[in-house]
Amino acid sequence: MISRTAVVYQVYVRSFLDGDGDGVGDLTGLTAGLDAVVRLGVDAVWLTPVYRSPQADHGYDVADHRAIDPLFGDLDAFDALVAAAHARGLGVVMDLVPNHVSDQHPWFVAARAGGPERELFHVRAQPNGWRSMFGGSAWSRLPDGAWYLHLFAPEQPDLDWSQPRVQEDFASTLRFWLDRGVDGFRVDVAGGLAKDPSYGEVRRGGPHPHWDRPEVHEIYRSWRRVLGPDVLAVAEAWGPPDRTAAFARADELGQAFAFEILRTPWSAAALRRTVDAQLAAHRAVGALPAWVAGNHDVARVATRLGPERALALHLFLLALPGAFYLYAGDELGLPDADVPPEAWQDPQSLRSGGRLPNRDGARVPLPWTSGERVGFTTGEPWLPVPAAWSGYARDRQEADPASTWSVLHRALAARSALWTVDDLAWEPAPPGVLVGRRGGAVVVLNASSRPCPLARLTPGAVVARSDSHADPAVVSPSECVWVRAGA
Ligand code: GLC
Repeated sequence: MISRTAVVYQVYVRSFLDGDGDGVGDLTGLTAGLDAVVRLGVDAVWLTPVYRSPQADHGYDVADHRAIDPLFGDLDAFDALVAAAHARGLGVVMDLVPNHVSDQHPWFVAARAGGPERELFHVRAQPNGWRSMFGGSAWSRLPDGAWYLHLFAPEQPDLDWSQPRVQEDFASTLRFWLDRGVDGFRVDVAGGLAKDPSYGEVRRGGPHPHWDRPEVHEIYRSWRRVLGPDVLAVAEAWGPPDRTAAFARADELGQAFAFEILRTPWSAAALRRTVDAQLAAHRAVGALPAWVAGNHDVARVATRLGPERALALHLFLLALPGAFYLYAGDELGLPDADVPPEAWQDPQSLRSGGRLPNRDGARVPLPWTSGERVGFTTGEPWLPVPAAWSGYARDRQEADPASTWSVLHRALAARSALWTVDDLAWEPAPPGVLVGRRGGAVVVLNASSRPCPLARLTPGAVVARSDSHADPAVVSPSECVWVRAGA
């Protein structure tokens, strides 16, 4: 069972470790890399989708929810991964994609040919004005001229969740993976499943025609009955804190990502506002937030904030009540790679003609060993790895006590024993500085441009700090420090 305050390591499977030399990370690679995950000190791994898929959106277009794509391995390799993870005390979280399927899914293939499976999708004689998240209309044509809905790429037709067959099939999928020992699910596009039956246009006020509709919560209540109380589920839902926290109700998914942090500027006041809003919204439903500093859909945190602030933000979020989801590669302080346009793979940027951000930069394979080939694969990596990334290699960082990896490693080792109470109280602090107390421990974040003497803020012993070169008596600008409060 994965606790609600666990640290979950998000593995973008394609880019973690390649076991067979084809240049794409896979399940054998991930299994081989688990000892490194354990050394880092997290509680569980979340795998981005490894189901059978034509990979039009890198696995978020699923053709068979109960099969592994040969690109990543097979069910035996999956079972071996779960066994190896459990043997090391790591939980395993799958990425579930319920909003849409691949256009190669047997249901859509039959629907396209005019079969009764059409009723499992949103097929209409005329499109409406809904827009795709990847740009353009959310409707494309079937060969006979009818239109089908896709909130993402045309290769990702949306399912009609009012259909009992869709609901029953997903319940079977949940049971299938639970029977294989999976400990949790990250739910992709959690807010999108219910659509306005009259396909009304987007308007201000009133429920949105396809985001966070009241009916979507009924779906997750039915899932929770299948999952039982102990299986972790976390909602990928973007929006205001009260709307996203609604998915974290105990009889629904139980957790929801606090994505607002990703859009919060580097300022003590703004960070405090976001944290307070997330905590309040989650507390109102009896839950705690799932904090994130990055994922495979946004620019890497080291690029968004710069390396020092990125590491400070990690320590700050790790000190808050709730869970933390660590995006693989952020423990190495990786920046976004500058992927040349001719190597772009992300449908979001390709389809929007570069208007929407390119997500490839945050998805580049990880450097394992210093040296020319960085150890990810014996073949050609699916996205080019910058030569300079040898400097970020895991082996080098594990050997250097001042590296990003080592700072996080020490913090993760101290985390659960230090932050034992769920309350967070802000204490008086100079402008630009946050001092948050949880029982006998205090987190200090210096978002100002001036060093701040530690003794003046809080007495006690420093347990972890984001700047290993800093003067021990001060909290440097852009630094986060954990203190065990003195008597
Ligand atoms: C989620 C995923 C993203 C994917 C989209 C469509 O936002 O995180 O990577 O493109 O859903 O499934």
